[in-house]
Amino acid sequence: MDSGTRMAPLADVPDASSLLVTLRDEAGEDVEFVLVRADGGDSEGAEEEVRAWHNVCPHWTDVRFDSGSGAEVRNGDLVCTKHGATFGCESGDCDFGPPEGSSLTGVDVAVRDGGVYLVDEDYEFVRVGAAETERDRSTNPGERLGF
Ligand code: FES
Repeated sequence: MDSGTRMAPLADVPDASSLLVTLRDEAGEDVEFVLVRADGGDSEGAEEEVRAWHNVCPHWTDVRFDSGSGAEVRNGDLVCTKHGATFGCESGDCDFGPPEGSSLTGVDVAVRDGGVYLVDEDYEFVRVGAAETERDRSTNPGERLGF
């Protein structure tokens, strides 16, 4: 396996919040992901693991979890503050809220040597922070599933 690209120090992935990163997919599109502690930062001393989830709520796809200042993470869940849906930080599965039963799309990351590495060969790392070429969400409201 590719040894991957170091994206950020592990210490930059906060407890009870997220670190926003931009990756580029094979089509050349910049796509935002949130890095979260797999346990949500709940279990002190646990093995450090990180997950990377697409920064889009499956309920209303024009709603981002993290707009640059960190998403809300509570009791091991990534929270969509729009309507309160919760997604397991470790699994990406929604267990409460309008998109209950859905799952977030993730990319493969690994933690080693105190850093978080992108090891998914379908993406390349662009930067920590928001995508500069973010689609104009006001003219592209995305897909909305009821509610
Ligand atoms: S937009 Fe996320 S729960 Fe409704």
